[in-house]
Amino acid sequence: MKPSLIILAAACVMLAGCNAAPAQGELNDPRVEKLMKKMTLDEKIGQLVLFTSDWSVTGPTMRQGYIDDIRSGRCGNIFNAYTADYTRKLQEIAVNETRLGIPLLFGYDVIHGFRTIFPINLGMSASWDEQEIEEAARIAAVEATAAGLHWTYSPMCDICVEPRWGRISEGAGEDPFLGSMVAAAMTRGYQGNDLSDPATLLACVKHFAAYGAPQGGRDYNTVDMSERWLREFYLPPYKAAVDAGALSVMASFNELDGVPATANSFLLQDVLRNEWGFKGFVVSDYTGINEMVNHGFAADVEDAGRLAINAGLDMDMQGASYFTYLKDLVKSGKVSKRTLDTAVRRVLNVKAALGLFDDPYKYCSPEREASQTLTGENKAFARKLAADCMVLLTNDGILPLRRGEKIAVIGALADSKDDLLGSWRGAGEEKSVPASILEAIREANGSSNVIYAEGCKEAGNDRSGFSKAIAAANSASKVVLVIGEDCQWTGEAASRSDIRIPGVQSELLQKLAATGKPVVVVLLNGRPLDLSEEVQYAGAMLEAWFPGTMGGYAVADVLFGDVNPGGKLSVTFPRNLGQVPIYHYAKNTGRPFLDPDAKYQSRYLDVPNEPLFAFGHGLSYTSFDYSELELSADSFGGYESITADVTLTNTGERAGSETVQLYIRDLVGSVTRPVKQLKGFTKVYLGPGESRKIRFTIDKSLLEFYRQDMSWGAETGDFKLFIGGSSDKVREASFRYEE
Ligand code: BGC
Repeated sequence: MKPSLIILAAACVMLAGCNAAPAQGELNDPRVEKLMKKMTLDEKIGQLVLFTSDWSVTGPTMRQGYIDDIRSGRCGNIFNAYTADYTRKLQEIAVNETRLGIPLLFGYDVIHGFRTIFPINLGMSASWDEQEIEEAARIAAVEATAAGLHWTYSPMCDICVEPRWGRISEGAGEDPFLGSMVAAAMTRGYQGNDLSDPATLLACVKHFAAYGAPQGGRDYNTVDMSERWLREFYLPPYKAAVDAGALSVMASFNELDGVPATANSFLLQDVLRNEWGFKGFVVSDYTGINEMVNHGFAADVEDAGRLAINAGLDMDMQGASYFTYLKDLVKSGKVSKRTLDTAVRRVLNVKAALGLFDDPYKYCSPEREASQTLTGENKAFARKLAADCMVLLTNDGILPLRRGEKIAVIGALADSKDDLLGSWRGAGEEKSVPASILEAIREANGSSNVIYAEGCKEAGNDRSGFSKAIAAANSASKVVLVIGEDCQWTGEAASRSDIRIPGVQSELLQKLAATGKPVVVVLLNGRPLDLSEEVQYAGAMLEAWFPGTMGGYAVADVLFGDVNPGGKLSVTFPRNLGQVPIYHYAKNTGRPFLDPDAKYQSRYLDVPNEPLFAFGHGLSYTSFDYSELELSADSFGGYESITADVTLTNTGERAGSETVQLYIRDLVGSVTRPVKQLKGFTKVYLGPGESRKIRFTIDKSLLEFYRQDMSWGAETGDFKLFIGGSSDKVREASFRYEE
């Protein structure tokens, strides 16, 4: 068969290091200036105050009287309030009962879906599918805005190489290039082309910045790194979201270089506004201002407020620091009127961009809420996306299952609907989940062919269910064991010091494998796990993440081969915690490990250097062959380009997808460069026996980095180029670039 051709601009994702012209337009609504002239000091401060409406939240900063605060104009923004009816009621107070009638802004954590829940974000990134990720965000925006919301605290753009950190589940994994693609796609999905459209949602880029690098993986912990590494590795996804037009940013809880991000003018002014041209507003994270007292950066909450607003932090989430102290700070001159006005203008201009001054109720639509939420279409898409996110880690041929075989479904998570939703599930509810994995397998395979035993819980050491599980395995021809983490073991404040599968779940796997029955392990988890034990006992392992509302069906779709899995890891899975941090973007060191007999090399004595599953890894029920690489020339200069071609052939018997990945290595740089840097990818669908020529265009933009003097550019020299289906399985070629 003659291969068809796909041509790719490898640098299709904006590279955040480059100093491209800011993509954000000016926000100068004339109505804002008119309002500013009329506003009192209290009313201005009110626009910088954000309180939760959630009455169940307790704590020193919870303001039970937030409705009075809205009424007095002292609270201009609310989060955690939703439904069209409820937001309308609150909006009516703001519009009809305050002096100036400035509408409220309603925010919420719409992280991986609102009512229809998609896979957790780490899972979504494993689809490597820009269109699907954008579509997921678009659907989330339609559902959330129908419930009266204007603003989501997403995308979460924190690059992370720290699996102990529970919030790794909320991001797009370890790679700045892939992370930038995801951040931009989600922003486009939320905001669409017109923020004033009642079905689009204001995005919030978080957590700015480098929140994904807490020491020891402990949430909220200290972050410190060189400015070069920050700019090269951590900042690109935030910038990609800003470039895609995101009009709000959330400052992170962590300190960076000794200064909490909440009052870090290097981040909030120099980088965000002056370099990137950000025009929206910056909100603190939840009580982030107050927490600067604990950081030992502010003497008290008043001082913290002063430091925050003077550094460029516009809105105070939940801390009531601005609410309580900003008036005095302005009166005493510790905060200038100009600083205050600038922050207020930013917030009001975003409200104007959302169309709230045209119609404050345009987002509160019970009709839309009833007709556009959890629709059949949304659920069908969620099912497809969930399957597309799954990563087949291993398979000795046991998968796909044949319908009609007797299957024992076992495991703590097999019959859980709740866990499918993951943490940060928006307004997603267990009752909207149509099927657990067990139920979906029963539907697919016929109830009489499925036998179920829980076996054990996901934590604790109760082995009393083992014997029933073993009996179930013995009575079946194959076992599907669904294990992993309780969904609340990932997300915020869910760090772990041990990244193995908790409790006695692995022990159960060993016992089941000892029956001689082939075991498929389906994993539900929100972080890279150490699966070194399990890999020895499982005939196949399917990483299903927390797959969302339709996750039960999606797992069954993949297990029975109705969907051929094509997900690829967006994060490295280590062999053990001792290897962490381990990621594909690593440097070579002065003593790379080349000779197993030599001692003084960069290696471990007790474990290989390689991870268990590399970044980009993921199998399929079919197989793909890569031809040798062909470069159009072995050198180029200046603004010229060359092409790199590879022919991909589906050598198996099923149609399937392959994500073809392009990596580059700059052999000698004025600063050391990673051994493999992802620079492009494309997802290709091929029928059995079909071939396609994939072409990447290589130009200067792919070779640029922060050089030793921190200027952004490429350097003359030799490069390696790698193309393959995983970062550890590539074809290789060399070329030279002359400046
Ligand atoms: C989290 C944010 C979230 C905010 C509002 C904080 O605790 O760090 O990610 O957006 O709460 O719920």
